[in-house]
Amino acid sequence: MKVLAILYDGGQAAVDEPRLLGTVENQLGLRSYLESLGHEYTVSSSKEGPDSDFQKHIVDAEVLITTPFHPGYLTRDLIEKAKNLKLCVTAGVGSDHIDLNAAVDHKIQVLEVSGSNVVSVAEHVVMSILLLVRNFVPAHEMIERGDWQVSEIARNAFDLENKVVGTIGAGRIGYRVLQRLVPFDCKELLYYDYAPLPAEAQKAVGARRVEDLVEFVSQCDVVTVNCPLHEGTRNLVNTELLKHFKKGAWLVNTARGAICNKDAVAAALRSGQLSGYSGDVWNVQPAPKDHVWRTVKNSLGGGNGMVPHYSGTTLDAQARYASGVKTILANYLDHKPQDPANIIVGLGKYETRAYGQR
Ligand code: NAI
Repeated sequence: MKVLAILYDGGQAAVDEPRLLGTVENQLGLRSYLESLGHEYTVSSSKEGPDSDFQKHIVDAEVLITTPFHPGYLTRDLIEKAKNLKLCVTAGVGSDHIDLNAAVDHKIQVLEVSGSNVVSVAEHVVMSILLLVRNFVPAHEMIERGDWQVSEIARNAFDLENKVVGTIGAGRIGYRVLQRLVPFDCKELLYYDYAPLPAEAQKAVGARRVEDLVEFVSQCDVVTVNCPLHEGTRNLVNTELLKHFKKGAWLVNTARGAICNKDAVAAALRSGQLSGYSGDVWNVQPAPKDHVWRTVKNSLGGGNGMVPHYSGTTLDAQARYASGVKTILANYLDHKPQDPANIIVGLGKYETRAYGQR
């Protein structure tokens, strides 16, 4: 069996730190396991264009392992060329880089390591909310510059207490964000999701569901995006929706870059419709050097908390998703059933309801 893994280059960091398992260097810790069973294991970061290792090796691979952090985009065209492909495994959570409808049509299974990094992301979301609301980044930059002008920072710094925070998507990550916000004594915690939370879970965090998206965003001081990217969420936060946000709201997106419209977000930040935008996901990854989200600021020179895609790839998360990938491979090789929570696309059908209402 040929297993192809598209991972990111870890460079010297991955040589020095073997727990960086999701890298080309450390290969999810799978090489000796797969080779001892007589399988071929090809690992590369080269993923763009017809000459990439990805496109060269996908034609005869049986299993493809990818990661959302350095996504190998498996389009319908490539799926049609991948005559041997039976299983796609996402090392992490979020399989939108795979054309899931095409995987359904071609009876290719798509699994991810559900839950493996949801705490990692939820912690990052809470941090991102705080750094925007409290105006942290410009304050730190001021210190590095050698300046000290408290009023310049304090003029746009607030408390999270008594603010309304809402999550688009209240699944594993969205719910964990709500749980972590409880001690901050927000005015209200809201959520927008076509799947209502179980009554007990909703009560435990004191959240209220708002069923209309426009009504939802118009009540929030902070909006955090925690739903998968699919046909129903691509470009969801666009110029029209941003008009309905409270003026000066903060927006945090650690779900997928393409859920928020790049130019609409930048324009809203410049105009003051948004006070801040923060997150770690980009519509193209790696993000081009001139991507507007790298540098766009609000009128006071702050409001940007963007980082590279790493919230779900802490060393703790990497240990969990590497071990999860191994379990999925072992189940596949031994013809054992997979954990149902990990199955996004089963044989010829979606097994999850999180990638849109069908
Ligand atoms: P989950 O499947 O547990 O929850 C997703 C929730 O979103 C579900 O409750 C679903 O009903 C809801 N949803 C789907 N479409 C929606 C829509 N149109 N409007 C409102 N809600 C909608 O997934 P989980 O584990 O919470 O992860 C969510 C997403 O976060 C992943 O799909 C991935 O894109 C992203 N993620 C990002 C990471 C990072 O490192 N930045 C790491 C892990 C996940």
